[in-house]
Parts: sequence; structure tokens; C-alpha cells
Amino acid sequence: MKTRFQLFLIFSLYCACSAPKTPSLSTIDHQVDSLLSMMTLEEKIGQMNQYNGFWDVTGPAPAEGDASLKYENLRKGLVGSMLNITGVEEVRKVQKIAVEETRLGIPLLIGFDMIHGMKTMSPIPLAEAASWDMEAIEKSSQIGAREAAAMGINWTFAPMVDIGRDARWGRVMEGAGEDTYLVSQIAKARVRGYQGENLSDPLTLAACVKHFAGYGFSESGRDYNTVEVSRVTLHQVILPPFKAALDAGARTIMNSFNDLDGVPATGNSYLQREILKGKWSFGGLVVSDWGSIGEMVNHRVAKDGKEAAKMAVLAGSDMDMESYLYVSHLKELVESGQVKESLIDDAVRRILRLKFELGLFDNPYLYCDEQREQEIVGSEEHVAGVLEMAKKSIVLLKNEQNLLPLKKSGLNIAVIGALAEDKDSPLGSWRGEADPNTAISVLEGLNEYPDNKYNFAKGADLVLEQPVFLKEVKLNTTDRSGFVQAIQAARSADIVIAVMGENGFQSGEARSRSEIKLPGLQQELLEELVKVNEKIILVSMSGRPLDLSWADEHLPAILQVWHLGSQSGHAIAQVLYGDYNPSGKLPMSFPRNVGQLPLYYNQKSTGRPFNPGDDIVFWSHYSDVPNDALYPFGYGLSYTSFSYSDLRAEVLENQQVKIKVNVKNTGPREGEEVVQLYLHDHFSSLTRPVRELKGFQKISLQPGEVKSLEFLLGKEELGFFDGEGNLQVEPGEFTVMIGGSSKAELALKFEID
Ligand code: GLC
Repeated sequence: MKTRFQLFLIFSLYCACSAPKTPSLSTIDHQVDSLLSMMTLEEKIGQMNQYNGFWDVTGPAPAEGDASLKYENLRKGLVGSMLNITGVEEVRKVQKIAVEETRLGIPLLIGFDMIHGMKTMSPIPLAEAASWDMEAIEKSSQIGAREAAAMGINWTFAPMVDIGRDARWGRVMEGAGEDTYLVSQIAKARVRGYQGENLSDPLTLAACVKHFAGYGFSESGRDYNTVEVSRVTLHQVILPPFKAALDAGARTIMNSFNDLDGVPATGNSYLQREILKGKWSFGGLVVSDWGSIGEMVNHRVAKDGKEAAKMAVLAGSDMDMESYLYVSHLKELVESGQVKESLIDDAVRRILRLKFELGLFDNPYLYCDEQREQEIVGSEEHVAGVLEMAKKSIVLLKNEQNLLPLKKSGLNIAVIGALAEDKDSPLGSWRGEADPNTAISVLEGLNEYPDNKYNFAKGADLVLEQPVFLKEVKLNTTDRSGFVQAIQAARSADIVIAVMGENGFQSGEARSRSEIKLPGLQQELLEELVKVNEKIILVSMSGRPLDLSWADEHLPAILQVWHLGSQSGHAIAQVLYGDYNPSGKLPMSFPRNVGQLPLYYNQKSTGRPFNPGDDIVFWSHYSDVPNDALYPFGYGLSYTSFSYSDLRAEVLENQQVKIKVNVKNTGPREGEEVVQLYLHDHFSSLTRPVRELKGFQKISLQPGEVKSLEFLLGKEELGFFDGEGNLQVEPGEFTVMIGGSSKAELALKFEID
């Protein structure tokens, strides 16, 4: 007896072959319409309903929900997607219910937060952004996608493209930093890595650009807080990375928890209808963030769940993640005439179209192949790939007396700090399905260089117990019993490697910090160590920029290693010993102290900019700290050095400008340089940043080698968005600046008509 699904398949194939070819309708659109015409209102609403898996949660589970209800609704065809179900065996179970036990057998979208790897962990996204290497980031994204898809996932909730200007916000680890241009380039690379060339390839995933929009501007860096930004900032700073990702083909978008102009994003028609589905003609689906529809009641713009469901569907939220409100209220809202069924049809078309594109109607078990899962997950190729990515993500912040790279023999090295032996923290937050304590530790990495002697002393625990995903991290702030041993180790060492920073769960969602110094007893320990040994290398492991002012003032060498994923220790050791010449550049400014936040390089002039000649106080500044960052955006050192010369500008027709520059490796060894192009618009109809990144190229140079680089500036680079989202280029003078950081000084003026 043919199952319902087989009957449906025959029907849809018949429709595809027999229907008059409507040029404007793709085959998929035709199949979608055919299927839609067979669906009841309940079944349509069911497609708009996304449930969490039956055990793992990535947010507060709503009161109405319980696992038994989920299974019941699954069998009734009232579930269109599930998240947090991983592994071919588990995915097959729920897919089988949807396909073989419901009337129409419509397969499920299986979503998951594959943010920086699934089992074989890449560095956290903020670390990868420090590589400025789009090819490497695409490759790393592809590795994560392959492992996730092999484990049954067909949709990842990434890339996160929220601009991060405030290191107090724990989710800066998940993004690509403070600059719109860099975040946009990385967004495109990630979408390419996840979706590949063919979405029905069972080792690719549908991308989901998030969080739409403005979440990174949560006030005072406190997660889920209010967002107050102007329309100009929305269009100039926040939206371009979303548009870049959609232009790269991203099929879905996730909205955000925050309000914008007083309206929560999930109920915000300006964002989701006027801009996304209107001006940008987005044809994919919008999924709410976890429970964000129901949270409009907490925002106090909806008096109850039914009102929230109505607001969300009218505003263009197509799928309800885990608030149970669409499946509870939409039928009544349609039948009472408060919501047109045409809106439901539009949402369901977007959802079904993705399922057809993923190939799920051709084979609902396409992503369920146990043998492929065994072969793909944890492959040597993936391990090698994430190691390469990790090395490229490390940023050398300070290296006085060329303390680095280390000699490979004859040294007595003290290795101090709990994080030196920590095999869990390098996995970072949003660690997919990584097994705990599986990263290569710094100590393990160093032990690959056995001709030096290592003396490890923890000094102090960083945390009191192993942190878990949903609970606060408990820091050790009292037990100094390991200090004596650590100080003794440092006293007798040639060199000290102090591995300090944050536990892997001190950043990520709901992990905001009001203070960004070294947490726990680490700063105190460091100050004791420097009393007995001046040659201290700080290896700073963190999910955000930390306040490293004291370290910068007292230590000769500092390496920013973020949370580098599964191969962390090998990458760090290879940089410490010079087997890899560090090439990373900061994607976020490192402040002098937390009081400077939010801090970003592309600030505006203000009406009272600093005037070097003045000694009056009436200009925009603090009395106790300079305005600029301790380490600026785009900054990073190398074991070699570079010089820039021969900057030329050629103004072409139709407001295009060709920029040329020579870059030379003036040091003793091969190295990579991120050549950055910044633009200053002298006068404009809106206040504009004093300088903005508008191009970069990462190049490798042998000692003494010179390369001539070319950049083409057009409307996208020379223009800016107004508060209505219109891109305009205004004639006038510009200055182009090129160099190895946002402090680039080689400058040239040009004018466009
Ligand atoms: C979380 C996050 C979002 C994630 C979703 C599913 O609350 O805000 O980024 O994709 O829920 O886990």
C-alpha cells in the first residue's frame, strides 16, 4: 500500500510535469503551490511551528510547552521544524513521524546552532574574524556545515552578523566585530561555506542570518537589553551585513529579542515587511528567535499570547521558534478575520520552498546516512582545517625585545595559569556537539616541543566547578593556595608563559560582564609573578576584548588567542615557537578600560574633536584616559615588518577611483600582512565617521619582497546610506589612508565630481 507521502510525491511530480510552464514560476514554486492547495489551515499553521528537541534547550522553555504535546503535534502534522535534535538516529526518528505518520508527510526542517563547528571545533567566530582571511573562513564554515549535515542537520542558525562595539556583551564572541565592511565580507564567506553551490547537496546547510536587527547595540552591553539607534545608524552600520548575506544567497533570517524604535523586532513591520520583504524583496523565511514572539508580552506591547501571535504574523515572522503561539492562536485569528489566510499562505510558501530546495521532498532521509556520519564527523581533514584556522586567528599584540618566537631548546619555561591545562574552555561558547574537555590544551601543545623544560603551576583555579550551558559561571575569588608554587616556578624560570583570560562559558549568550579585566584571581597572580620574573608572555584566552592595560604596561609580550577550538594548544605553541608567523588583526578595539565602552575606531568627529594645539579642556574626552583604544581595530604584529609606499589615486568616470600602493616585507622572515584601506569623506550632508574601512587584502611576502596592490572604489565604497536606506555618493574631497591597522597614516587626497 502506497504511503500518503508516496501518493503526494506522485501528485507533485505529476504537477511538475503536466502543469503549463509558467515562465515566472519555477518548478519549485509550482510544486509549492500544488502542495499548498492540498493543505488544511491547521496543516499550514503547523508548518509555521518550530519545536525544540525533547531534551536540549537553548533558552527558557515556555510554560505551555511539554514534550508529550510536541510528539502529539508532530503526529498531527502541526510541526514544520525542530531544533536541537542531532545525530542521524534521532533525526530519522522525528523525520519518520512527520513523513510517515501525518496526512501529507511533509518533511521537517532540522535546525541547529552550528556556530563554529559541530564536533571538530573551529575558533569562535570573533577569533576567525581576526584572520581577515575570507577563504579560510569559508573553509572553516564548510567544515562545520559538513559535520552538522552528516549529523542530520539541514539548517544552521548562522552567520550571526550583529555589529559588536561593546566588549561587555557576551555575544561579541559569536560575531565578526565592530566594522560593517569586515562583517559584511565575512557574512558572505560564511553563507558560501554553509550553502555551497547546491542546497540539495546533503553536506550543505541552509544559512540563517541573525539577529535581525540591532541586537548588538543592547544598551550597556547587557544582553537582551533595550536598543536605541537612529535610522541612519540602522542603515549605515547595522543592516549592510544582512544585505550582504542575502545577496550571497542566504535562504533564511532570524529576528532578534530587542525592540527597535519601541517595537520588538519580531513584531516590527518596518524591519521585516518594509525593508526585508519589501525593499530587499527577500523570498526566504523569517524565523523568530527563541520565544521572541511570546516575549512581546514581557515587552508589554502585547497583552497576551494571542495578541503577540497576531503582531508577529502581521509583521512578517514566518516561523515561531518555541513560543507555541502560532500553533495555539493563528487558526482562531484567521477564522475571526483578524489575520488574512493569504499571510499564512505567504509564510508557508517560504517554508515549503526551502524544503524543496533542500531536496527533502525528493528524499526526506537525505541527511540521514549513518555511514556518512561516521566518515565525515571528526575526519583528519577537518582536524587539519580547524588547526589552520586557529593559527590564522591569533593576534600578536606586543613583543618587546623580540622575546617571541621562543628558542626551541635549552629553556626552562614556567607555564602558569589554570587555562594552560584547560581542555574545555578553548571550545568556547556555542560549542555545538563537541565533547567536553576535548580541546588540545596549551600544555599539550607545548609538549610537542620537548627540547625545552616546562614547569606547570596552576596558581589558582579560575572556576569553582565545571560550568554548564544554562547556569552562571562560579569564579574562584578566594583560594590562593597555589600561588606559592606558581611564584617559585616563575622565580626559577628563564621565561614565564602566563595563560590567562576567560573560561569558555564567560562569553556567549546571556554572558555579559560589567568588568572586563582578567577574572578571578588571575590579575593578582600576574602581579605577583612579575615581581620575580620580568620575562612574562601573557597568552590571553578570551571570548571578548579584555582590559589588558596593566599587562601592556608591565609585560614584554602579549598574544591574544581567543577561544581557538579543538586544536587550540597546537596553534598557540606553533605561534609561540615561530612555526607559524602570527598574521591576525583585531576585529574589535581593545579598550584601555571598561569605561570607554562602547568603543570603536570609526567614530565621528563630533563638534569638539581633539585639537592638538589646544590645551583647553573643552573637547570630547575623558580626564583620566585617552580617547583611543589600547589596541585599535585592525592592529596586529608579526615576527617580520612591513612598509607602505607609492600611494596613488586615479579618478575614473562614473564616480569610480582606482587606488594603488606598494607593500614591502622589510623584516627577516616570510609573513602575511592585512593591507587595509580606509576612507575619510571630508564633508557630507550627514555626520560621518572620521575614517572607515572600505577594502583590505591579505598578502604573503618573502623578506625584501614588494607587491603592488590595487583597490577599486565605487558607489558602495564612496557612498553612504541615509536614514531611508538610500545609498548616495556626494561629490567632494576624500582622503584615502592605507596601512596595517585603523591607524594607517599613508594618506592621499582625491576629489570626485
Ligand atoms: C537563542 C539565540 C539564537 C539561537 C536560538 C536557537 O536564544 O538567541 O541565536 O539561534 O536561540 O538556539
